[in-house]
Amino acid sequence: MTTPLPKAELHLHIEGTLEPELALALAARNGIDLPYGSADDLRAAYSFRDLQSFLDLYYALMAVLRTEQDFTDLAEAYLARARRQGVRHAEIFFDPQAHTARGVDLRTVVEGLGRALDSAEQRHGITTRLILCFLRDLSAEDALETLESARPYFGTLITAVGLDSAEVGNPPSKFQEVFALAREAGLHLVAHAGEEGPPEYVWEALDLLRVERIDHGIRSLEDERLVERLRRERVPLTVCPLSNVRLRCVDRLEDHPLPRMLEAGLLVTVNSDDPSYFGGYVEDNFRALTAALGLDEEQRRTLAANSFHASFLDDKQRAAYL
Ligand code: HPA
Ligand code: ZN
Repeated sequence: MTTPLPKAELHLHIEGTLEPELALALAARNGIDLPYGSADDLRAAYSFRDLQSFLDLYYALMAVLRTEQDFTDLAEAYLARARRQGVRHAEIFFDPQAHTARGVDLRTVVEGLGRALDSAEQRHGITTRLILCFLRDLSAEDALETLESARPYFGTLITAVGLDSAEVGNPPSKFQEVFALAREAGLHLVAHAGEEGPPEYVWEALDLLRVERIDHGIRSLEDERLVERLRRERVPLTVCPLSNVRLRCVDRLEDHPLPRMLEAGLLVTVNSDDPSYFGGYVEDNFRALTAALGLDEEQRRTLAANSFHASFLDDKQRAAYL
């Protein structure tokens, strides 16, 4: 087996790294009944028709995350795995509203994750950033309240905001105000767009939210003018191939648009999204692409270098990785 290339991971939901074994251990620790007796029972439920069928299970299983220690354990498990997959820098999403809605306060989540992230460089050789994601199927007011409650962590633990959850019917335009406030507060901006939703949502994310990266963005290829815009402005796209197949955005990995995106001159990166649910971490995505699409060494090196170019590292930090 070849050594994984050093890379940055820029599209990773920390809650999506919850492995069945850890979910069961946390359920036992917190006295929570799960309708699954074993890790294999849980894995058997990981069969998805679309984004929503995945989200239903993803949110349900979060019930096991209750204490600061649970969030520390979750992040620590990801970091240990990520390092073995060649990750040197990780910009990590979390979904605060999925926790506050069930009575776990923001402080517990952020400080729990923070404990693992603060020692990540020393323990795992991975630098990190945390990206607060708004759930787009909740209201704009809820997003505004979430932003306000997270202010104490701006610029320290939290350095960016994003937008995730059920895309179709929840266009970026709904969140224009909260993104403008986040921008004024000096945060970086990203958004999921063009995963299941149409190219218009990618335009909105760029023009109305003024995001610096598009998460997924695979449906951008349906709009030539949009491809030209993304290419010209070197807007990074954080693509998640195994996720796209598991959520049936793409039929088979052999049909994945990533090679076409590279050929079109787009700044594409490869990421794992929710690796516990989608069958692999970031290097597993690189390997699966190589097997299915014959990705060559030069393309793999380009993708790894793109991940650092697309990151929010400053120039000096970036130069250390390239
Ligand atoms: N898309 C949208 N929302 C998400 C995802 C995703 O792939 N994973 C976790 N939340
Ligand atoms: Zn995602």
